[in-house]
Amino acid sequence: MSDYDVVILGGGSGGYACALRASQLGLSVALIEKDKVGGTCLHRGCIPTKALLHAAEVADSARESEQFGVIAELAGIDMNGVNSYKDGVVDKLYKGLQGLIKAAKVDYIEGTGKLVAPTTVEVDGRRVTGKNVVLATGSYSKTIPGLDVDGVKVIASEHALRLDRVPKSAVILGGGVIGVEFASAWHSFGTEVTIVEALPRLVAAEDADCSKQVERTFRKRGIKFKTGKPFESVKHTDAGVTVTIAGGETIEAELLLVAVGRGPVTQGIGYEEQGVAMDRGFVLTDERLRTNVAGVFAVGDIVPGMQLAHRGFAQGIFVAEEIGGLNPKPIDEAGIPRVTYCEPEVASVGLTEEKAKEQYGADKIKTYNYNLGGNGKSQILKTQGFVKLVGVVDGPVVGVHMVGSRVGELIGEAQLIYNWEAFPSDVAQLVHMHPTQNEALGEAHLALAGKPLHAHA
Ligand code: NAI
Repeated sequence: MSDYDVVILGGGSGGYACALRASQLGLSVALIEKDKVGGTCLHRGCIPTKALLHAAEVADSARESEQFGVIAELAGIDMNGVNSYKDGVVDKLYKGLQGLIKAAKVDYIEGTGKLVAPTTVEVDGRRVTGKNVVLATGSYSKTIPGLDVDGVKVIASEHALRLDRVPKSAVILGGGVIGVEFASAWHSFGTEVTIVEALPRLVAAEDADCSKQVERTFRKRGIKFKTGKPFESVKHTDAGVTVTIAGGETIEAELLLVAVGRGPVTQGIGYEEQGVAMDRGFVLTDERLRTNVAGVFAVGDIVPGMQLAHRGFAQGIFVAEEIGGLNPKPIDEAGIPRVTYCEPEVASVGLTEEKAKEQYGADKIKTYNYNLGGNGKSQILKTQGFVKLVGVVDGPVVGVHMVGSRVGELIGEAQLIYNWEAFPSDVAQLVHMHPTQNEALGEAHLALAGKPLHAHA
């Protein structure tokens, strides 16, 4: 006899989405969480960082107001004020989420759980059994061997979110998503930022044209970056840190922010002991998110792939529906939208040009890069960038890549285009609102369909 239909270990995006959907389907659910429901995304990730980035945008608006004929002055950044705004957003969402969990009649169990049998989780001495168990224990900020994150001079993103001051200077290790987002926000607040990235370009997981545009704009903004330069060592000094990078160059700063990726939280919680197949700490699943152990599923950042909250939500819902017998359609990872919220924003879905050429053959792929210079609303906002389409010759659009202020908000249409396998002509015949930035997506498709309006063929 099981206590529950579903026992979920971890109350982050993947875990709580699974709990809510399972409960909607009439299943009995226990959700086990050692900290706060909402996990990394709500408390230490997506939500607080985007609030920080919005405060940074407000600072930029004040600083750049004269360009628009408005006389204003940026008198300074009150970090306490920024933090209370940010924490207020998180608190409100947290209360809302707690209310949802309660209303869904999910049994919320506070405590640290451990898998002690394939269908049993032990929480502080109590054994909770489920017909199904969902592992959703999330991720942590990684560091590199020999680099000790002390939370004071050498910090991770969770510490950076709690700083009570604007650092005078910072070295950011890693030019991936977290690295460029903090670089962007801190620079807007007045920090002198240097990014150190081992790979040849910033946001290296994105299409190469996106990296180029971000680098161009960062250069213009005065954000320094060193690409192709692995980190070597850090020394603590009275004033902060001295960072040495490949080639022996040193950089002095008040802080070193380590943003070299996130690792799965899977150690010491019984997964290996129960025979769950793992690879480098990640839990392996099939496309139905089943592990090799019957009745045990995994969702979110512990499953190899993109570590994104909305992927976690989708996987959580998928597993609940799988358990509920709805036979849901497996998730296409390439169809999951990606947005990096630095200034300029980067938004993409589907395949990069490089991946598409690998997959379809170079001669089967055509691309179009629509410059935001031709887009009225982008000119009003004074932003630069593009909408790049990657299409199959006589076939669908298989990649959309965008850079520019606010382009993250354009990803909705782009993801429908990719996921509904639209041809350029399908999108070209739809009338797009003028003047919007969204119109740039329409114009890019007009151009790829061979009938450009405010662009060249
Ligand atoms: P990441 O994998 O995006 O970037 C880490 C970067 O550090 C890589 O470019 C890597 O080459 C570099 N690196 C690693 N070792 C290095 C070394 N020794 N020297 C120099 N550079 C080195 O990981 P990141 O930025 O820490 O983000 C973690 C996760 O959080 C990502 O999976 C990301 O998707 C997610 N996230 C998503 C956000 C969003 O969707 N907007 C925002 C923030 C995080």
